[in-house]
Amino acid sequence: QTMRKNSKQVTWGGRFEEKPSELMMQIGESVSFDYQLASYDIAVSRAHASMLSEVGLIEASECDAILEGLQAIAQKIEQGVFEWDPQLEDVHMNIEQALTALVPEASKLHTARSRNDQVATDMRLWFKDASVSLIADLESMVLSCLQLAEANSSVVIPGYTHLQRAQPVPLAHHLLAYVEMFLRDMQRFSQVWDSANVCPLGSGAIAGTTLPIDRLFVAKQLGFVDEKGDPIVTQNSMDAVSDRDLFIDFANACATVGLHLSRLSEDCILWCSAEFAFAQLPEAFTTGSSLMPQKKNPDGFELIRGKSARLIGNTQSLCTLVKGLPLTYNRDLQEDKTPVFDSFQELSLMLRVAAETLSGMQMNEARCQASVADPLLLATDVVDYLVLKGVAFREAHHIVGSLVKLSETSGVPLNELPLSEVQSIDSRIDADWTSVFSLEKALKARNQIGMPSLEQIRSQIETLKARFSSDH
Ligand code: ARG
Repeated sequence: QTMRKNSKQVTWGGRFEEKPSELMMQIGESVSFDYQLASYDIAVSRAHASMLSEVGLIEASECDAILEGLQAIAQKIEQGVFEWDPQLEDVHMNIEQALTALVPEASKLHTARSRNDQVATDMRLWFKDASVSLIADLESMVLSCLQLAEANSSVVIPGYTHLQRAQPVPLAHHLLAYVEMFLRDMQRFSQVWDSANVCPLGSGAIAGTTLPIDRLFVAKQLGFVDEKGDPIVTQNSMDAVSDRDLFIDFANACATVGLHLSRLSEDCILWCSAEFAFAQLPEAFTTGSSLMPQKKNPDGFELIRGKSARLIGNTQSLCTLVKGLPLTYNRDLQEDKTPVFDSFQELSLMLRVAAETLSGMQMNEARCQASVADPLLLATDVVDYLVLKGVAFREAHHIVGSLVKLSETSGVPLNELPLSEVQSIDSRIDADWTSVFSLEKALKARNQIGMPSLEQIRSQIETLKARFSSDH
C-alpha cells in the first residue's frame, strides 16, 4: 500500500504515505550535478560489497551478482545510455535502484552504510583525482612559462613597483616569479590529496553500525593507504559525515591559483597595450570589436581575470554553507558539490587557456629595450656605487636624489649630466660614475640566490626543466 503511494522511494519511503511534492523533488534532486560522481560511487559500492562478503554479511554468490551488476551499470553510464531519474534524488539512489532492478541481491548492498558516509567517500576519491589533474595542468603552465622565458632569454624589461618603473629585470625573472607561485599551488593540491586520503566509509549515518564490518578492508580496497600500504580511516564517525574542510581547502587552493593567473593576466594585458607594447598576443586567444575594426582585445586573459572572482566566490559559498550547521549531516551539505565542481572545471580551463596563450605570445624586444634604456632605472645602482666609496646609504640616497632632480629640471638624462655639475653636488663622485649605467653590468652584479642575473636565471630554468621533463 505505502509502497504504491510512494513507489519511487524504496530507499526511504517506508514510513511515508504521501509522495514528495513536485517542488520538493525539484529542490531536493542533486543527480543533475552529482552524476559526475558515478564512477566513484560504483568503486565505493564494489569495495563495500566485497567487504560485506568478506565478513560474511552477504554470500559470496550475492557479492558476485552485485559486482557483475555494477559492471553492467558502469558500462551503461560510460556509454551515455544510463537514464538518470531526478525523482530518485541523487547519484547514489539512481545507481542503487538500477542495480536492484538488475540483480535482486543488491537490496543487501546498503547494509551497514548510509548515503552520508557514501557521499563523503565518493567525494574524497573525487578530490584525489581532481588534485592530480590540476597538478598536471599546473605543470603545463610552468612549462609554458619556462618556454617563453627561454625563447626570450635576452629580453630585459623594466620591473615595476606602484606601476612605476623601478629596476630592470630579465623577462625570464618576471616569468619565474609566476613559476614560484605555481609551484606553491602544486604543493597546495598535493596537501589536498594527502588530506583526502582518509576513508570515512563505515561511519554510517552518524554513529557507525552494530554490524561486524571491516573498515580497514574497504579503505585498502579503495586506495586510502599510506606509503607502506597500510589503510587510513577517519577517527570519528560524527566528524566524518559532516566535515567539509577538504571542500574548503580544495576551493581555496583553486582560488589561490586563480589569483595568480589573474595577476599574470593583468601583466600580459598591460604589456599588450599600445602604451607598453612589450608583447603581442596570439590571434587565437584574442577577439576583435564589432564596431572598431582595428581592435585586437585580450579577451582570453580578461576572462581568466574575471573567472578568478568566481573561484573566490565558491570558497566563500562553502565557508558560509558550513558556518552555522549543527553536527552532523544536514541537507544543506548537498550544496557543497556545485562550488567545487565549478572551481575544478573553470580552473582547468583557465590553466589551459593561460598556458596556450603564453606559448603563443610574441615579445617586442626593441620596444622592451627602449623602455629599459631609461637611465633612471639604475639610480639605485648609483647609490650602491657611492656606498662602495664609503658613503653612508642614507646620504648616498639623498645625493642621487639631487642628481635625479637636476636631470629632471635640466632635461638632461641622468647618465649625461656634466661631470662638473655632478661633482658640485658631491665631490666623491668620480669620472667613472657613468660606468654604472650598463644594463649588462647591473644584471651581472645581482648574482645571488633569488636575484635576476642571467647566471641565476639559467640555473633555475635548468633545474626546473630537469624536474618537470623527467615526469613527462
Ligand atoms: N545527495 C546527498 C548529498 O549530496 C547525499 C546524502 C543524503 N543524506 C541524507 N541524509 N539525506 O548530500
